[in-house]
Amino acid sequence: MSSATPRRIAVLGAGGFIGSHLVPALLARFDCSVEAIDTDLSKLGAHDPRLQRRLSRIQEPGLIDDVARRSDLIVSLTALCTPALYNTDPLAVIDASYNDLVPVVQSAARERARLIHLSTCEVYGRRALDLEGRAMERMSEHETALFLGPVDRERWTYACAKQLLERVIWAYGSRGELDFTIVRPFNVVGARMDFLPGIDGIGVPRVLASFMNALLRDQPLELVDGGRQRRSFIAVEEFVEGVVRIVARPEVANGRIFNLGNPRNDVSIRTLAEELASAYRAREPGARFAGFREVSAESFYGPGYDDTSERIPELSQAEALLEFRPSVTLSEMLPGIIDDYVRRYAPRIALASADAAPAPQREAVLA
Ligand code: UGA
Repeated sequence: MSSATPRRIAVLGAGGFIGSHLVPALLARFDCSVEAIDTDLSKLGAHDPRLQRRLSRIQEPGLIDDVARRSDLIVSLTALCTPALYNTDPLAVIDASYNDLVPVVQSAARERARLIHLSTCEVYGRRALDLEGRAMERMSEHETALFLGPVDRERWTYACAKQLLERVIWAYGSRGELDFTIVRPFNVVGARMDFLPGIDGIGVPRVLASFMNALLRDQPLELVDGGRQRRSFIAVEEFVEGVVRIVARPEVANGRIFNLGNPRNDVSIRTLAEELASAYRAREPGARFAGFREVSAESFYGPGYDDTSERIPELSQAEALLEFRPSVTLSEMLPGIIDDYVRRYAPRIALASADAAPAPQREAVLA
């Protein structure tokens, strides 16, 4: 059974964006060992004798049972969480969000390990509606319905699979068979988020990395459906602090679902693009700026995409139980994020463009 101060923590998906911030925070805060499991741990910079790195898929036979047996706490972060995949590779998304994770829940219950599972704000769906279908301003863990789109809008494969896993976890917990906390992150942003297409990944990353990719390559920032949709962005450092408090306070966090986000940073995607572009130009005054381009969702993501018009977290539960009050504004967080992308990617993009440049003309070589 879980103890108040975990001694052995396993983090599944430790090499991803959030894992690479969470693992060092756990090591800093707790007198514990951390087993970091992922197929790629290159983003995880922490060096600590209490950290054990394990390069593995979570589906590896026997792995999750072994991990659950030797851990007090499992933090589960693995996901395919870029929306461009939801309608283009839905079966892989359902596997990663549900089928691969049911054994994690079962093993945690069997071995009496506490489970903190990162779900998603996507479970709220297209917009915030109360239980009678009336519009709400904020998405609340207990008062907001989960309003997904029709099945042919495959965007909702991810949200639906994540919701079903939440229900599995809840069923174990409500029967006294699992100590759990479910976290619903709301648009966490920060250094090391996602990937840049053609550099360290393929496909379409989430909006922050998509916009940074455009800025670094002097291409226009593409605004899907004009960028009218709104999101509330939270700095990864503040989000991670919320998760650390959940780890530290099982007596209030167990058996609950928590929204973690920052309602004060609710902006349109167009505003995000404008603020990011102006912060980038302040850092790189010589860079060319190709502006913004409006694109349709169908041309950007393909058929079956759908979207959330606005997504603002209700935080009263996290405030009351965790004293969670994020305060970093978008304009405060953007310069540090831009700096990370420029340092990690600008040299690689310059190299790639030099390689792709046409060979010098014969005359020029002779001259
Ligand atoms: C995604 C995931 O589905 C969530 O699980 C996750 O919690 C969330 O990101 C997150 O970052 O926390 P979403 O906010 O829709 O959800 O993902 P983004 O790819 O970041 O898109 C945000 C908005 O920007 C969407 O309306 C999208 O259409 C738009 N967008 C994206 C653009 O206008 N241009 C782009 O280049 C990329």
